[in-house]
Amino acid sequence: MNNRVTLDEFIVHSQMNQDNASGEFSGLLRHIGIAAKIVNRIVNKAGLMDIIGLDGNTNSSGDAVQKLDIYANELMIEYLKNSGQCAGVASEELDEFISFSNKIPQKNKYLVVIDPLDGSSNIDVNISVGTIFGIYKRLTSESELLQLEDFLQPGIELVAAGYVLYGTSTMLVYTSGYGVNGFTYDRGIGEFCLSHRDMKIPPSGNHYSINQGYFRQFDTRIQDYLNKCADENMMLRYIGSMVADVHRTLCLGGIFLYPKTKKNPEGKLRMLYECNPMSFVVEQAGGICIDEHGKRIMELPVQTLHQRSSIIIGSVENVNSILPFLN
Ligand code: AHG
Repeated sequence: MNNRVTLDEFIVHSQMNQDNASGEFSGLLRHIGIAAKIVNRIVNKAGLMDIIGLDGNTNSSGDAVQKLDIYANELMIEYLKNSGQCAGVASEELDEFISFSNKIPQKNKYLVVIDPLDGSSNIDVNISVGTIFGIYKRLTSESELLQLEDFLQPGIELVAAGYVLYGTSTMLVYTSGYGVNGFTYDRGIGEFCLSHRDMKIPPSGNHYSINQGYFRQFDTRIQDYLNKCADENMMLRYIGSMVADVHRTLCLGGIFLYPKTKKNPEGKLRMLYECNPMSFVVEQAGGICIDEHGKRIMELPVQTLHQRSSIIIGSVENVNSILPFLN
């Protein structure tokens, strides 16, 4: 007897329980799952193909672009377009958003924000990377073309969000606002199978995760908090790939921080492609996500496609314990 539940089965079953579900949202999620399988295949054999290393360009956020960034970006966009269920996409790798149709009436109501390959500088040394995605409902009506304002929505408007972790095993973790579920890729059958039902972040943890190398660039409030973590003999873990660092934090509890630095005075991570989707997942698992002023990430206004923010994300007790330092 096979009790496995595949991602497709889970999505279809979950949507059957929703009133007025048209199938559009399920179809879109399933296409993200299919694209993730293809990216996974390429990431797994990157060393055997001529696709590791730098592309020679920088993206709109000013980061060096890896060849695999380009590949993953094009692939994700192609699958989202072919899904026939997506109005358009904004990607960390693109200056502007893409609209999939210039016809009126517009038939699709969902749009996707995506970081196709987060942490891609880790690829060349065979360390975990990820894909992050968020799904919003468009604000404009079907009688209007997609506009920039459709994408500039705060995290609280997310309909679904998740990530794919290409690690020792590949996992897709997502929420559509009813808890968080994780699916591990079974290469034998080519399917993501439910392995982590209703994930909950432990209320506290003994790990803190931050690029400690920037210590001298951090605000003194952050430095004081980090000194407290060291005084309490907490374990420092940092991969440099947000998906992997946040996934560990979600599983084991603790705190992940990417504060402002002299190099990135607004913070490094992007609101649309990284901070909001990961915050939605962690909040749905029972965690807290704030910026370094103590404001809830998901309520922050989004003014530009590539807006950055500081972020502090993790277990309730750990994030609460930094609040007195932020005042
Ligand atoms: P990118 O998507 O450009 O590879 O950025 C990776 C991000 C994120 O995944 C990670 O947490 C952070 O950058 C690491 O930055 P540092 O190298 O500055 O620590």
